[in-house]
Amino acid sequence: MLNIGVLASGRGSNFQAIIDSIEGGYLKVKIVLLITDNPNAYAIERAKKHGIAHLIIKPKDFSDKDAYYSHIAKELKAKDARLVVLAGFMRVVGKKLIQEFQDKIINIHPALLPSFPGLHGQKQAVDYGVKMSGCTVHFVDEGVDTGPIIIQAAVPVYHDDTEESLSERILKQEHKIFPYAIKLFAEGRIKVEGRKVIIEGSREDNILTNPPLI
Ligand code: GAR
Repeated sequence: MLNIGVLASGRGSNFQAIIDSIEGGYLKVKIVLLITDNPNAYAIERAKKHGIAHLIIKPKDFSDKDAYYSHIAKELKAKDARLVVLAGFMRVVGKKLIQEFQDKIINIHPALLPSFPGLHGQKQAVDYGVKMSGCTVHFVDEGVDTGPIIIQAAVPVYHDDTEESLSERILKQEHKIFPYAIKLFAEGRIKVEGRKVIIEGSREDNILTNPPLI
């Protein structure tokens, strides 16, 4: 069974969606560790409730970014994590972690990349006036939300949407595609060729707008 480590900074609803997918039998992986940079993250309560080990690792306790991410990599390796899942981790991951887990770190972003990377993807979409937005699961490289795209789900954006209403619509899709992407990874069905991610099996798996997931 694939061991996964989760990094989260806040509420942790995506973390919960992964937990629920595991407990419901949809996802056959084991969460070996939650790491958070935020002592007040609600994700910690979720970890405790479900018997998942957690660590609070704060950047200010380290001399620099390399030391911080080397330490995180060490803790993940100590638990034998083979995939690192960024579930609302609100930092640009440092190269020390990326080098240790090449093509083994995935992130969920609340926009259709390459549009609206960085923070507040939903607000950026509302302010820009796009008619469609959504969410993206992608591999993490050293850029900001620039790694190869695994899967996306699209939602409409209405003229009277607010950041909050659009976030809520997108979040429902996040909770579907994130466990799904982890499932594909766990089943060894994801191949990276340059910028392109090929999902083995059904061709339609690459272009889901209504994922048939959980
Ligand atoms: C999610 O919408 C996720 O896509 C976003 O933060 C939220 C975390 O919610 N991530 C980013 O913006 C990363 N740049 P959650 O803590 O309830 O999963």
